[in-house]
Order: sequence, then structure tokens, then C-alpha cells
Amino acid sequence: MHFNLQKQLGLSSLCSSLLSFLCSNDQAQVAFHPARPPSYPLAVRNPYLSTWMPADRVDRLPYAESQFWAGQDLGWSVMVRIDGQVYSLMGVSDLDASSILPATVRRAEFTSSHSLFDLMAGPVSLTLDFFSPVSPSNYLRQSLPFSYLTVQVNHVWGRDIQIYSDIDGRWTGREHRSVHDFEEHGKLLFHTLSVEDAPRYAEDRDMALWGHAILASRAEGSRNLSALAGPPQVVRAAFATNGNLHEEESAWSAQSVVALAHDLGNIVGGASVTFAVGYEREEAINYLGDAYTGFYRSEYPTTHEALSFFLEDFEEARLESWRLDDELSAFATAAAGPKYADIVALSTRQAYGGIDLTIPNSSLDTDRALAFIKELSSDGNVNTIDIIMPAFPIYWVMDPDWIRLLLEPVMLYLDAGRWKLPYTIHDLGSHYPHAIGHDDQRAEPMPIEECGNLLILALAYVRATGDESWINQYMGVFQKYADYLVKNSIDIAEQLSSNDAAGPLANETNLAIKAAIGIKAYGELSGDQKYSQIGDDHADIFFRQGLGTDERHTHFVLEYPDMPNTWKIPYNLYPDVLLGLETFPREAYSMGSQFFSTVRGEYGVALDNRQDWAKSDWNMWLAGTFEISTRDEFVDDLWAFMTNGKHNWPFSDRYVSTSAHGSEPGVPVLCRARPTVGGHFALLALKGPNSLPSISTHKAYGTGGSRYDRFMDPAGEL
Ligand SMILES: *[C@@H]1O[C@H](CO)[C@@H](O)[C@H](O)[C@H]1NC(C)=O
Ligand SMILES: *[C@@H]1O[C@H](CO)[C@@H](O)[C@H](O)[C@H]1NC(C)=O
Ligand SMILES: *[C@@H]1O[C@H](CO)[C@@H](O)[C@H](O)[C@H]1NC(C)=O
Repeated sequence: MHFNLQKQLGLSSLCSSLLSFLCSNDQAQVAFHPARPPSYPLAVRNPYLSTWMPADRVDRLPYAESQFWAGQDLGWSVMVRIDGQVYSLMGVSDLDASSILPATVRRAEFTSSHSLFDLMAGPVSLTLDFFSPVSPSNYLRQSLPFSYLTVQVNHVWGRDIQIYSDIDGRWTGREHRSVHDFEEHGKLLFHTLSVEDAPRYAEDRDMALWGHAILASRAEGSRNLSALAGPPQVVRAAFATNGNLHEEESAWSAQSVVALAHDLGNIVGGASVTFAVGYEREEAINYLGDAYTGFYRSEYPTTHEALSFFLEDFEEARLESWRLDDELSAFATAAAGPKYADIVALSTRQAYGGIDLTIPNSSLDTDRALAFIKELSSDGNVNTIDIIMPAFPIYWVMDPDWIRLLLEPVMLYLDAGRWKLPYTIHDLGSHYPHAIGHDDQRAEPMPIEECGNLLILALAYVRATGDESWINQYMGVFQKYADYLVKNSIDIAEQLSSNDAAGPLANETNLAIKAAIGIKAYGELSGDQKYSQIGDDHADIFFRQGLGTDERHTHFVLEYPDMPNTWKIPYNLYPDVLLGLETFPREAYSMGSQFFSTVRGEYGVALDNRQDWAKSDWNMWLAGTFEISTRDEFVDDLWAFMTNGKHNWPFSDRYVSTSAHGSEPGVPVLCRARPTVGGHFALLALKGPNSLPSISTHKAYGTGGSRYDRFMDPAGEL
């Protein structure tokens, strides 16, 4: 009796975990691996190609619509036809009224570059593999504004199979004004969708109205690929009936779709087909009045050449991505455990998905490559210094040259003397893609914040790459901002810091910390010891002499003087640790290891004593200054937020961390899909710059390569 009971218990716990799909019927729950994220990146490559699948739609994936990062639903369906019966794998919302059957979702997985869904369509097992390459050292590959969808049929024995995908007019941002075009170049077929007469550089709720959405694929071998556009009921019915799309085209209307279908014929074993989905803007960025275009146009100036290359590059890109996924997972686990590895994996595509890598549209000169980053979901600013700053740990780890690529557009503008105020500009334009500066001198003022950020970023770039020549040409600009900090960073006038939602303050300690480290960074950059000494002196005033701490030296205060009961997370200490500057003594970090356990809410530590919300990027920065046990608490808390199933946005870097003020903890606030999640790499960054062999040994720059060769790591392993 006792023995039998044990056996039963053992079986049922097996059922509830790994083997649930074998033990129960078709309503089995989806297995989430390695965890359940709020939303899955499907095609996430730049601010206008950012398509996601909210995790709370995954169990009904055959019906589910995908989403633009800002929340607009986008039509994207995938179907398979097996021996004449059609199953929806994704995105057919009106399934029940048709002869199409829903497949069953078994498993969902994310890695740093793939989102994978395993489904059963009747007796056949299939995998949808949404792959957005992250390849920062391969400028060509990184800059292509397309993403892969591979539909894999696993192990069948003699079945007749066709595979279909479509997208709709909502991908243009203005469905009712959308128009359709189709091109065929040998075996390459592609549809484009665009907005009729769209003004260049115009947005609607953050979607690009200029440029075009793309659905493409290439016929493989002798297999047949067909295309059709029209009302979804008509197009999908044609596929269901015939297994192909060789029909008369219907008139294009607002709710129409564009579709491609592969006929794989009779399959024994496995088979797969790959689609490309994208959003292309020939004029990608308005930089100071000149059009900048995607870096890839230096080699592939037309859409069909770019798409042909993208589809040809698939196998190599996929091999690289598997190496990257494995390395990131292994290195992040070694740095701070498996939960940290999950955080890093979900952050990778999003971090690069806020960026465009461009060259001048007129010359296509790859020596003039510039990167642009969008401040997603707050105000759309271009190349905000305090967006590049929190994100920089991911560039440091994966390819530190991106610090220069992102700062260069700003440095050119500052160096030209068009910004006349004595402190660093906040951003290079009020709204993406207009990187037109602020000749009216009216950028959001964050004087200490941005001066400190710029000097620290410049030093990080030199430390990581050894490239002093880039820094030297701007030394005069840097000195101006170092001098500004020397004069203005003890008695600090009321001003904003990066966290502008928290409002302005005078004498904010965390800004004083940033300034001390920024001044020291300039001392290192310029070799002028005088500045290093001033940085050290400021640190001494704020820490040892206690202007920035409570009397007993238990923590840094939010503001000084005489505000001992206030606090704010002093994340600006992190670059001091990363760059080994030793502006502050060890005790300045270690007191935090004690203190922050005492103000920890359900989902971790808030930004400061006034707020109930946390910033995930700054919390990972701060964790990088801690002893291991406190660091691990911060990782656990962020992972708990990421996986709690209470929300469905792209990874939010701002969320309610405590119920102390009466709000529901563990839910996001305002911020979606921001590239600042690059800051989650802060713990991995402590292992050194350029630390992923799969990336640093595969430098490839297209035609502009030679000047970067010295950064190749000859000792790196393949
Ligand atoms: C597919 O089949 C159709 C009709 O049989 C034919 O016209 C077309 O050329 C074929 N396409 C490819 C890419 O093989
Ligand atoms: C960008 O380059 C293309 C190709 O040379 C050209 O047709 C287009 O007019 C250019 N756009 C601008 C704004 O100069
Ligand atoms: C800021 O701190 C300085 C130095 O302690 C002090 O002289 C000044 O009065 C403070 N300013 C404010 C607004 O409290």
C-alpha cells in the first residue's frame, strides 16, 4: 500500500512537469523554456522592424496576431497543408469559420537570437523558428532590415506538404492607405506593402509610414513557390483548396494580405522552408539634412539584391547565431547563474533592435558609417546620451566599436560648434529618424548627467578597443565638459538626471558620484593628472568626508546636505568598477551590499526612497558593484519580474518593485522594448570587453574593413 502510493505520487509529479504533454490530452499546457517571458521577439531588428508575440497569446498561437512593439496588432499568419488538410500554426483569428484546423502548441523557447514554437498539426510535428540575427561585428549582416521565419517539418513518413505565410496592410502603419507590389527575380519572390504617397520620415504611433514592409522567399530546387495578394478569406481558401497560390489576383483592399506558399511535395524525413519578413527604408535617417541609408546598400543597393543576399546568408547567419546563443548562455551562467543567462538572452535582440546602422545615401561610403538609436516608448529622441549610457555594457561585451558608432554622429555635431551651451547635449534630435540636432539650443537639459556620461563612454571605448585616435580628435570637446564638471558638481544646481520621471533635484548624490568618476575618466583620457586628482578629491568629499552619506556611512543619500534618511541606488559607481578607476574606495560599494537588503520590495529595490518603481538596467549596473549574495538577490528579483506572467509587453526596464505605496507589484510602467536593456549585460561586462569568441573572431565589414583590422583578436579561437 505504502509502496503503491509512492509510485502514484511519482507518476503524477512526472506528469505535471516534463512529460505533461504525454500524460494528458491535446489541451496540454505549453512548456516554456527556459522560462516564460512577457513577450517573444519574432522579427526585431531596428525601431521599425520590431514584431513580437505576447506570451499570453502563445497557447492560442494558431489564432494569435503578432504585435508591433508599441502594441498595434499586425497580421502575420503561418499555415501548413498536410495531405490536403490545412492547419493554422499562427495568426488566423477567424479559424473557426473555416475548414482550417488549429495546431496545438507544445513548447515555446527563446534564446538570444531565436524564438521557437513547437506545434502538432494533426499527426505532424512542426517548429516555427523566428530568427533575428544579432551580429554587431558583421555590419552587413547586422544592418539588413529583415528577419527569418523558418518552418520546419519534423520526421514525417510520406506526406504531401505545403507551407504558407502571409502578412497584412497593418505592417505599413496605415492599413487603409496601403498599396501592394510584387516582384519576381528568378527563384526569389517578394511582396512589398507601402503607404500611398507617404511623406518621407513620417511616423504614425511609432510605425514608419515611409518605406515598405516585405514578405519574401526563394524557391528551393525544383519545388514550387507561388504568390498571391487579396482578401485573407480568398487567399487562404485558395491555399486550402489547391495547396498553392496560382490564382487570379484579386483587387487590393484595406484588409488584404500578401501571401507566399511553398509546395514541398511528398516528404520523407524532415523538411523546412524559410521566409524573410522585413521593413525597408531606402532613406533610413535624416542626419543633419542628409539622407543616410542602411549599411548593406554599399553592397546590395536594391531590395532584390539585399533580399537575395539575406536568404543566401541564412545558413552562415544561423551557424553564427547558434554559437552566440551557446556562448552567451554559458558565459552569463558562469558570470551570475542561469537566471541571469535568461535575462541576458531575452535582452539581446531588443538591445540591438533599437538601432539602425547607416551610411550616407549619396556616397554609400562605408568609412562614414554611423549608428542611430531610438529612445523607444518615452519620447523617441535620437541618440540620447543617457540611453547609450545605460545600454553600453552590451556593446562592451559584444563589440565595443558600437560605442563609437553611436557617439560619432553626436561628436561631429558638437565638434562643429552648433551646440553652444557649456554642457553636453542630451540627444541629437527630438524625434527619430530626424537626427537634426538642436540648433535652437533647446534639448532637454541634463548638464551633469550627460557630461559625465560622455566622458565615461569615451574612456570605455578607448579601454575596450585601444583606439586613441578617435578620442584625440575630440579632446578639446571633452575637456570643455570636464571643466564644466569640475566647476559645477559639488554645489549642484537643481536639474534632471537620467530618470527624468522622478523630477529635478538640487545636490543629487548620484549625479555628484557620476561627476567625480567622469572627471577622473577625463584625467585618464587626456593623461592630465590634475583631473584625476580632482575626481579623487570629489569622491573623498562625498564618501570619506560624508557629504553624500548618512552619518554612520550605511548608504549614499538621495540628496545632500543633511538628508540622512533619503537614499537612491548609486548605480553611477558601476563604471568605476568596470574601468578599474578606483575613484571611490571599496567601502563605498560594500556598504550598499548591506543596505539594499533592508529596502528590498517584492520585486527588488526601487530607484530611490520616493518611488515604488525600479529601473532594471540601473539595478543590474548597481548589482555589478556588489558582493555576490546581494548581487544574486538583484538578479533573482529581475528574473522574478520578467517571468511572473502578469504582463505581456516587450521587456520593460521600468516596473513596480514594491507594494509599499499601494500599487500592484511586478507590473511594468510606461517603458516597452527599450534598447536600455543592454544594461542587463553589466555583470557579464565585468569579465572584460569583446569577450564573445563567436563575434570577435568573425569581423567582417564589407568594403570598409581595413581600418578596423587591428581590432581583430589573432589569438581568438574559432
Ligand atoms: C510553379 O508551378 C507553376 C504552375 O505549374 C509554374 O507556372 C511556375 O513556373 C512554377 N514556379 C516555380 C518557381 O517553379
Ligand atoms: C538615395 O539614393 C537613391 C539611389 O541613389 C536615390 O534614388 C534617392 O533619391 C536618394 N535619396 C535622397 C534623399 O537623396
Ligand atoms: C548644495 O550643497 C552645497 C554643499 O553642501 C550647499 O552649499 C548648498 O547650499 C546646497 N544647495 C541646496 C539647494 O541645498
